[in-house]
Amino acid sequence: MSSFEYRNGKLHVEDLPLEDIAREVGTPFFCYSTAAMVNAYNAFASALKDAGVKGTIFYALKANSNQSVISTLAAAGAGADVVSEGELRRALAAGIDPKKIVFAGVGKKPEEMALGLKVGILQFNVESLPELEALSEVAQKMGVVAPIAFRINPDVDAKTHAKISTGKAENKFGIDIPRVRKFIERANDLPNIAIESLAVHIGSQLTDASPFKDAFERLAGLYSELKQAGLPLKRIDFGGGLGIQYNDETPPDLSVYAKTVSEVVQGLDAECIFEPGRFLVGNAGVLVTETIYVKEGSNRRFVIIDAAMNDLIRPSLYDAWHDITPLQEPGADTEISPCDVVGPICESGDTFARQRPLPPVKAGDLLAMESAGAYGAVMASSYNSRLNAPEVLVKGDKFAVVRKRIDYDTLIGQDLLPEWLSS
Ligand code: LLP
Repeated sequence: MSSFEYRNGKLHVEDLPLEDIAREVGTPFFCYSTAAMVNAYNAFASALKDAGVKGTIFYALKANSNQSVISTLAAAGAGADVVSEGELRRALAAGIDPKKIVFAGVGKKPEEMALGLKVGILQFNVESLPELEALSEVAQKMGVVAPIAFRINPDVDAKTHAKISTGKAENKFGIDIPRVRKFIERANDLPNIAIESLAVHIGSQLTDASPFKDAFERLAGLYSELKQAGLPLKRIDFGGGLGIQYNDETPPDLSVYAKTVSEVVQGLDAECIFEPGRFLVGNAGVLVTETIYVKEGSNRRFVIIDAAMNDLIRPSLYDAWHDITPLQEPGADTEISPCDVVGPICESGDTFARQRPLPPVKAGDLLAMESAGAYGAVMASSYNSRLNAPEVLVKGDKFAVVRKRIDYDTLIGQDLLPEWLSS
């Protein structure tokens, strides 16, 4: 059962009409379903268990780092994949055990490494020699040993949008397989580094299972070789990337994904880590917006809404599709016609959908931009001096504002005037 569905003609999130929340919170706002997140988590965990994979889910906070979202998934059993000191602090603030935190990213700074070492995270996923050396230096100063994974770049085409593909040789991520041995030699000379794991992440929103298989096979082959050569490896980090349905794509079935993992880890005696982000939260959130005007252009109709590219940048940045669903259920015989759904920002790129077949929409009508739980609020900005869309979490028939809309004084007050302008 979906957590967003029509009941009595009104789009509900769990047991609440979204319209009721809109009335209290104002639009635009993001709304997340607890049940949808927990169900996605449990589906992922059960698929691994059913396939006999010994694995832990480390939620990729970058998808949605609202504290309430992290806490919901942590309560379900998730650890965290973090990519900055901010995300590390968020994971710790949500009570995640440092031994269930991995730190990824190509540009960790020494002070970020120091915090990870201080709290004792499970591993740093290392991607370059200078990073390895910097980590060793920080660990040495602190008198500790840094547990690491080498993130491998398997040179596999993830067949996803170029901007979110990460496992090709031309991408900035990971270490090419032929160069790994050089990294190991260097790490072995560094007393404050312990190589414990290998990691991979080839991209996001994968809708085809074969790149996973190719990448995982290459990773497992390398793991086995290195282990036989005496490297004390314990874990494999398979990254994230599992796609979700936005439109008509058919992402790989969880059981297929889990089976691929179980086949490659056969006989390796490796603990497994997974870093899903989008899969856990993408379809657990919507962006609710109100129609401001309907404008008849010379060759098309524009539905102008009060959400914009600063709230949800995915359509502008990746030409991403998000379903657009009226909060009031259209009648069965409603006439459908194509519209461009656009925001108020002064750029033509502020377009959510072009020539999208929609039922008649008029000013004041509320719409839900679906699948906005991942890479929505976290990628928002205040462009055009717009206030942030607040975030709401629903559980059953209860809702809570989990990030409020700031006011204009706060927005303007973030800027400081130098003394020569503030007389
Ligand atoms: N692990 C690593 C190392 C990653 O870089 C990412 C995502 C993940 C895990 C989680 O991937 P997921 O399971 O969510 O696909 N803003 C883009 C997506 C960027 C993904 C970046 N890395 C979008 O809106 O589509």
